[in-house]
Amino acid sequence: MSDDSGRVPAIEVQNLTVSFGCRPALLDVTLSIDPGLLVGVIGPNGAGKSTLIKAILGFVKFDFGKVLIQGDTVESAKGKVAYVPQRGAVDWDFPITVEEVAMMGRYGRIPWWRDPTAEDRRIVAEALEMVRMSDLQQRQIGRLSGGQQQRVFMARALAQGADILLLDEPFAGVDAATERAILDVLDRAKASGRTLVVVHHDLATAAEYFDKLVLIKQRLYAYGDPVQVLNPELLGEVYEGTLRVFQDLPGRENARV
Ligand SMILES: Nc1ncnc2c1ncn2[C@@H]1O[C@H](COP(=O)(O)OP(=O)(O)OP(=O)(O)O)[C@@H](O)[C@H]1O
Ligand SMILES: [Mg+2]
Repeated sequence: MSDDSGRVPAIEVQNLTVSFGCRPALLDVTLSIDPGLLVGVIGPNGAGKSTLIKAILGFVKFDFGKVLIQGDTVESAKGKVAYVPQRGAVDWDFPITVEEVAMMGRYGRIPWWRDPTAEDRRIVAEALEMVRMSDLQQRQIGRLSGGQQQRVFMARALAQGADILLLDEPFAGVDAATERAILDVLDRAKASGRTLVVVHHDLATAAEYFDKLVLIKQRLYAYGDPVQVLNPELLGEVYEGTLRVFQDLPGRENARV
């Protein structure tokens, strides 16, 4: 369904319910994300943030509801969505270089009978340039810092040529300088017209980093402008006793878990 401006949403989630065993991880979640936005997903541990990302990718079975990517079913939208997993999900001892990881982004488009073309190599070089990893392209991925590894996986997602990027906690365990570098890549991906959905843990930076925020804990509690979503009463309800509220941005109450 298109909005008033006639644009088809990048992602539409309709009445989505996903369970593992008998307990729903997501319950009746409905959400529509316009193209070109940088969206943060917040909520406490176990809230269903990763499950939401996996549902958009078609990696989990739905009990009920549906997900549309640019108006198409997830199955027919393959290739339009790229995923940067949490760092813990990757085998870093695998003997593969930075360039080879980025080239994996092209594999969905390269038929099995041919090698990467000059065009594939150009796209990979551009993606590595975008994440500022060109200098290290021949290095084994196991010999990179955590933040560099994160950027290589972002390059792989960019090389895929997908319009929509989903990132699960890209800032986890990186230092402040790396966090800036990753944020810079997110901003540039957005400037190139992509839609980004990013699971994020730090409520103190959420308003600064994202155009809109999704607040979930099994159900969708809020989706909208960060200032509205980061409402102390709402956060108190969602994070219950785990939240420490403090003031650090002028005129606004912020919170950190
Ligand atoms: N593969 C699975 N099998 C069984 N239960 C699962 C599975 N994946 C997630 N869950 C459960 O679903 C719920 C939501 O998990 P999810 O990983 O989506 O939370 P999250 O918000 O990403 O949490 P975190 O902040 O800890 O990453 C949790 O109760 C979790 O234990
Ligand atoms: Mg998670």
